[in-house]
Amino acid sequence: MQKILITGGTGFIGSHTVVQLESIGYECVILDSLANSRPAVVDRITKITGKTPVLVEGDVRDRACLDAVFAAHDIDSVIHFAGLKAVAESIREPLRYYDCNVSGTITLLSAMAKANVKTIVFSSSATVYGEPDFSPIPESAPFRPASPYGKSKAMVESILTDLTVSDPAWRVALLRYFNPVGAHPSGMMGEDPAGIPNNLMPFVCQVASGRHKTLNIFGNDYPTADGTAERDYIHVMDLAEGHLAALHYLVRSDAPRLTIANLGTSRGHSVLDVVTTFARVNNTPIPYQFVARRPGDVPAYWADATRAEQTLGWKATRSLEDMCRDSWNWQTQNPTGYIG
Ligand code: NAD
Ligand code: UFG
Repeated sequence: MQKILITGGTGFIGSHTVVQLESIGYECVILDSLANSRPAVVDRITKITGKTPVLVEGDVRDRACLDAVFAAHDIDSVIHFAGLKAVAESIREPLRYYDCNVSGTITLLSAMAKANVKTIVFSSSATVYGEPDFSPIPESAPFRPASPYGKSKAMVESILTDLTVSDPAWRVALLRYFNPVGAHPSGMMGEDPAGIPNNLMPFVCQVASGRHKTLNIFGNDYPTADGTAERDYIHVMDLAEGHLAALHYLVRSDAPRLTIANLGTSRGHSVLDVVTTFARVNNTPIPYQFVARRPGDVPAYWADATRAEQTLGWKATRSLEDMCRDSWNWQTQNPTGYIG
């Protein structure tokens, strides 16, 4: 059975992907610095799957640590989730972002090359498109990343692309995620942001639980149907399945060296759609007020995800209702996240 190294595997998307991989028989080795996650995630993975992944606490910038992982485990492929992801923080601390996201990836790729492991799935982001000319956004849309975070993703995409040109043995998938939300349907795993959440769904959950009185909706004067901004929210379980599909595809004998795919649902939902759907399916009021637009926010965008369906045979199947229900289930079962 294939053994996969999952960097950032105790994080939000990584942990759900580990569960899906283990449930179909893959063996997982997680490398995570625990900079933004907790070791308790491994216990939850074990409870759900009955299998315990190996957890190596380490940094992707630590070459000696990586060499030791590849020496100790017969790794077939890598899924590279590890990285920093807060857009505003990246504007304040660009060097930290380039160091972790770009240098960290170069160190990982060098260690992979030395260990002759040349199959990698990389977590890219729709943020590489910046403000697009139109939606749905195809993979061919121009790159306009507006933050060091977005630029770090674009840089890593270039590096991986160059690698596939340099050596025909590499098999690379660049997956551009839209807005991941939701949680494992058991309620045992979900998103556990540190401090006050920046993102919509975790904040909505905390309003529903009474931790915050009101949701601030950033802008109701956008050129959208209800005036609030539109995004392509995708259930984290669909996203996890997208990684399985990419891994299966990359090991096919006819797989190209480089595969690029948007992972989204191909439809946009407004902030008000999320709020009203959450309130309806969970029977919980979400008090909200309109405030000024958040600087840097794009009015509306969603994916053209047809390529993922045509090449990887993957399509998101879960609805906004599922996303809202599963997020709230996780929140109510774990009001303080993985601690407590
Ligand atoms: P997350 O913060 O929950 O997970 C990232 C994990 O990487 C964490 O467990 C963290 O401890 C670990 N990590 C950070 N720096 C590390 C380092 N130098 N060495 C080893 N481990 C390190 O984030 P997530 O939402 O699960 O995102 C996973 C990936 O997907 C990231 O690369 C992110 O940029 C990308 N992505 C996320 C979103 C989103 O909205 N969540 C959207 C598009 C792309
Ligand atoms: N929003 C609110 N109130 C809040 C939080 C968010 O109204 O308290 C709105 C935002 O203004 C935006 C929408 O909800 O219109 C979604 O905001 P998120 O912060 O949840 O997500 P973003 O689309 O801003 O960004 C996300 C990730 C980024 C990634 C980007 C890529 O957080 O890391 O998607 O598409 F780069």
